[in-house]
Amino acid sequence: MAKLRLAGIRKAFDGKVVLEDVSIDVPSGEIVAVIGPSGCGKTTLFRCILGELRPEGGSVVVDDLDVTRVPQEKRGVGIVYQGYALFPHMSVRDNVAYGLRMRRAPRREADEKVSEMLDLVQLRHRADAYPGTLSGGEKQRVALARALAVNPRLLLLDEAFTALDATTRSQVVQEVRAIIKRLGVTTLLITHDQEEAFLFSRRVLVLNEGRVVTFDEPERVMRHSHPFVQDFVKMCLIHEAKVETYASGTMFVTAEGGAQIPIQIPGVAPGDVVHVMVKKGPTQSIEVWPTDAD
Ligand SMILES: Nc1ncnc2c1ncn2[C@@H]1O[C@H](COP(=O)(O)OP(=O)(O)OP(=O)(O)O)[C@@H](O)[C@H]1O
Ligand SMILES: [Mg+2]
Repeated sequence: MAKLRLAGIRKAFDGKVVLEDVSIDVPSGEIVAVIGPSGCGKTTLFRCILGELRPEGGSVVVDDLDVTRVPQEKRGVGIVYQGYALFPHMSVRDNVAYGLRMRRAPRREADEKVSEMLDLVQLRHRADAYPGTLSGGEKQRVALARALAVNPRLLLLDEAFTALDATTRSQVVQEVRAIIKRLGVTTLLITHDQEEAFLFSRRVLVLNEGRVVTFDEPERVMRHSHPFVQDFVKMCLIHEAKVETYASGTMFVTAEGGAQIPIQIPGVAPGDVVHVMVKKGPTQSIEVWPTDAD
């Protein structure tokens, strides 16, 4: 749990500027989605936060401590990439324990932490399995458990859900989100999927050609006139709605356009204001979540 400040980050490769004046403030525990066209510098930004790359200008500040020159292993930043990168010859348990071993954590402490993480991602029963026998969603949860086992102060997810099929993805995204919220880890997620961006985060950072286009709540990002943003959001609509009840007592919300959608969300009562996301296109879907979820 830590707050993150990026101040004027600039990064160039062989004289070609890839990031320019990237400045954002992320409060402790917040979840942020990072979107932008391919090649706009998203992964490069993560590598600067992680400590794999040193920016030519600007600073990375974690909890008021400037870590721009602190080596990667001392930064406490966890990362999950697309494709999980689990070690195929190691069991689930050993994969999750990997970071703890590297840090020479005492055996008992490491065992306890691994069990705790496996419980957290609900995979204790698969502890002795090898990655090759796991489903995509399970692999994803192992990768998450491995990243979280070392108590990172920041978590970076670089297209971590991209390899999952659309049906599994929305469920895994929600599950992972719930875990991250419970732990309160400040998290940044790179995604190319608008549904994922809006479901996962309450603030979206839009990058284009290495610069910040906007950093705002989904509803406001959607109204941004930048061509990439308009292209990105054309499949989704988000709006707020008040929860109403039918005579039968069943709760519903009214989507823009008039359709009434019955809902059942723990902790949501009639009169509450919720977010409604309507996904257009061939596979229409509607998601509803509480406005004060954070
Ligand atoms: N190590 C490197 N050396 C030289 N150029 C690099 C290096 N890493 C990235 N780049 C270049 O920097 C730019 C940004 O790359 P980056 O990987 O950050 O993009 P991205 O936004 O993550 O794209 P994608 O959505 O395709 O993953 C690209 O033009 C890329 O070719
Ligand atoms: Mg990338």
